[in-house]
Amino acid sequence: MALYRAYRPKTFEEVIGQEHITKTLQNQIMNGHIGHAYLFTGTRGTGKTSVAKIFARAVNCLDPQNGSPCGKCANCLKLQNDNDINVIEMDAASNNKVDDVREIREKVKFMPVDVKYKVYIIDEVHMLTDSAFNALLKTLEEPPKHIIFILATTEVHKLPQTILSRCVRFDFRLVSVKELMAHLEKIFKREKIECDEESLKLIATAGEGSVRDTLSIADSIASYCQGKITKEETLKILGTTDYLLNVEFFNCLKEREVGKMLALIDKMEKEGKNLAVFAKDISRHARNLLVVKTCENANEILSLPDDAYALFDEQAKLFDEKDLIRYMQVFSSAENELRYTLSVRLLLETTCLTAMSGEQVKKN
Ligand SMILES: Nc1ncnc2c1ncn2[C@@H]1O[C@H](COP(=O)(O)OP(=O)(O)O)[C@@H](O)[C@H]1O
Ligand SMILES: [Mg+2]
Ligand SMILES: [Zn+2]
Repeated sequence: MALYRAYRPKTFEEVIGQEHITKTLQNQIMNGHIGHAYLFTGTRGTGKTSVAKIFARAVNCLDPQNGSPCGKCANCLKLQNDNDINVIEMDAASNNKVDDVREIREKVKFMPVDVKYKVYIIDEVHMLTDSAFNALLKTLEEPPKHIIFILATTEVHKLPQTILSRCVRFDFRLVSVKELMAHLEKIFKREKIECDEESLKLIATAGEGSVRDTLSIADSIASYCQGKITKEETLKILGTTDYLLNVEFFNCLKEREVGKMLALIDKMEKEGKNLAVFAKDISRHARNLLVVKTCENANEILSLPDDAYALFDEQAKLFDEKDLIRYMQVFSSAENELRYTLSVRLLLETTCLTAMSGEQVKKN
């Protein structure tokens, strides 16, 4: 099982880096001052869903410990089942229509079963359509006593003011490298994975403040290193791709050499390279070429070695600005998906082919 699934926190104390939120929620549980609409915002993998689920158990727990669910009472045991009917998770990205929200409005009339509160967790709530927002608003205006809404989003600026004003808002922070390192260290100890301090730091830094990203990077490095993580191997897997490889890859894109490109991807995978990191490197290379192409003093911005700069300068001439911008978009959005998909290689290959075919369409 992937580390980020195996280590989903079960109490507020186990959540790292979000004390400003967990303390407040624990106090609310202890004082019995529970709200009916919460909004959780923040980057992916910082704990929104985890905290929502802990809260759903805590409000129903028969014997809360310091505001956290006890994990032992009948209600805690019942709600540990992810399919329990009292905790309803809805992904607004795929259920964004007004009918989906109307269905919620119908269902909130029913009482919780065996427990005190029914909790609706609506993820990626910014994806709702305008009419769905309006329907939701009606429910938020007068929520039944036994219902709690937890809305979660990575893009809070897309929410209408009317929704914002009806929710208690909590902003999840990016988690610091120091906290991530301590967290990784604990997990590695339990998993009996050896890892030196420098590699810990490298991995924690690469996670860029997201606990989930940090754990999935750790996963790929640990499985490559087979239980003993060294700095050399960590650097090799994390390290930005050799710039010559990026240049070669872009030549393939330009010349539409499908076979050669697939062979390059194969080579990287065999070397244990994290393909999500590769997608990021590719997006960055496109950006570097764009800088070379459009900026007066490009190398003051890029600080590349002379021979690399000369190569980039040469290559930049082969591409339109529009194509470079498109590559930046295609590969940076793929980077995110690549971290979570199970068929990493297939997705990367598809992305590359899409990037290529855009070019073909343009020429015709
Ligand atoms: N603050 C955190 N503390 C501990 N683990 C976390 C935290 N945030 C995320 N994780 C890890 O990442 C996984 C996914 O987190 P999740 O709560 O679904 O994030 P989000 O909903 O913000 O995208 C969890 O199962 C856990 O392993
Ligand atoms: Mg989530
Ligand atoms: Zn309990």
